[in-house]
Amino acid sequence: MDKLLLIDDEADVQYSFRRIFDSPEIELTAASSGEEGLKLIPKVKPDLVIMDVRMGGTNGLETLRRIRETNTKLPVIMMTAYGTTQMAIEAMKLGAYDYLLKPFDVPKLKQIIGAALKAARDMKQVVSYQPLLESEDYDLGIVGRSEAMQNVFKLIGQLAGSDATALITGESGTGKELVARAIYHHSRRNGRSFLAINCAAIPENLLESELFGHEKGAFTGANSQRIGKFEQCDQGTIFLDEIGDMTPATQTKILRVLQSGTFERVGGNTAIQVDVRVIAATNKPLEQAVAARQFREDLFYRLNVVRVQLPPLRERPEDIRLLVNYFLKKLARDHEHPPKSISPGVIKALEKYHWPGNVRELENIIQRAVVVAKGDVILPGDLPPEITNPGAGATSSAQLAAASLSAGETGVTEISAVTRLMFRWARQDPRLKVLPAVERELIIQALQETKGNQVHAAKLLGITRATLRKRVDKFKIKRELTIQ
Ligand SMILES: Nc1ncnc2c1ncn2[C@@H]1O[C@H](COP(=O)(O)OP(=O)(O)OP(=O)(O)O)[C@@H](O)[C@H]1O
Ligand SMILES: [Mg+2]
Repeated sequence: MDKLLLIDDEADVQYSFRRIFDSPEIELTAASSGEEGLKLIPKVKPDLVIMDVRMGGTNGLETLRRIRETNTKLPVIMMTAYGTTQMAIEAMKLGAYDYLLKPFDVPKLKQIIGAALKAARDMKQVVSYQPLLESEDYDLGIVGRSEAMQNVFKLIGQLAGSDATALITGESGTGKELVARAIYHHSRRNGRSFLAINCAAIPENLLESELFGHEKGAFTGANSQRIGKFEQCDQGTIFLDEIGDMTPATQTKILRVLQSGTFERVGGNTAIQVDVRVIAATNKPLEQAVAARQFREDLFYRLNVVRVQLPPLRERPEDIRLLVNYFLKKLARDHEHPPKSISPGVIKALEKYHWPGNVRELENIIQRAVVVAKGDVILPGDLPPEITNPGAGATSSAQLAAASLSAGETGVTEISAVTRLMFRWARQDPRLKVLPAVERELIIQALQETKGNQVHAAKLLGITRATLRKRVDKFKIKRELTIQ
């Protein structure tokens, strides 16, 4: 029989737990405060504790801290209705087993508790004890309620408690640098330096010397000795951004630092020893670079010890509302004016958009909207047209094709859907001459499909070859086609 200890000051929660876990395999004990829970643990010897974060008296995090003083292995699941990053990270850092957001559905709760109990039973494994840190009052500013982001927060917390190398991946603008800084701020190295280097922004031949320094005369132009970032950052944390962009020589040196903590300055032959924690990030698929032999496989595995994969914003629309509120508050604070509010139509439009630029794009759009909004409320008209009116301004054949496909209609209805779209664009952009634009687009496509064969293309278009030729000249198409 598994013993479960619930610590929550709400009678309702205790009641529902009793109902949910009324089974012969589980013995549930409930405590109404942190203090009571702490007293019960040595008596009950639970296999698993599940505890609320916000409680009167000793709160959940403090209780967890006290549990960990005497018991490093007991798995504790934290619950809260308020999904703040700070708490999730703090809880994981203190060694919580998991972190749940209320309200949760019953099957999921059962599944998580079942898994935790199984893990406790099976493994009886050493849960590494992390040194307790003074809790900091640092506003991380990472927002997200989606499950994917909650998992990221948990990982940040776990990474903060260790010195492991981490690889952060995700599309541009998903928050990779933010996460790297969060790991650093919560880690024991936070009193030491944090250096961020964008490997893609530094010319290839200079990167090695930037990272590892050089001796005087190492190469033309090396007029004096230079101390590199790794040396400057001893005891600290280095953030290697865009890690995919480095020469094989630099890759080899990075691998060596990771393995042995040593390197030589460019042109030098004394091994220098450093203690640097490396956090790397990339928005390119490194696996592909490895397969193409552009990136060392051993380095990849060495960096990939813990992988933090940031989900694109379009996969977590439930975070959009939170992010918008966060940015509005942040802007208001920066400019010392009360935050503007936002109309429901705006949120709807934002949730529908596909966010190629992810959170960075959202942040920019909110900044812009705050500026252009005339009153206290941001309205759909304050958003850029590509958000309120997807497809607007699209004129390339690919976009046209995509638009016609997404119209979801076939044959004549499809044609009229596309032409309707064209008129919409024409109204927005008077430079767009609808008929010639469509004609030109069709001719280009026909020529592409027939690989430039004018007889076949003319047939496809339902015109004579002579007419086609005239149009090709008129629209100056040929040059474009040969380029494509
Ligand atoms: N979850 C989040 N909560 C709040 N702000 C966020 C979040 N994610 C990203 N941002 C903000 O979005 C912007 C872009 O984030 P960041 O620079 O970390 O992205 P990135 O993944 O490093 O992008 P790139 O690949 O283009 O370098 C920053 O201003 C950051 O503060
Ligand atoms: Mg970045």
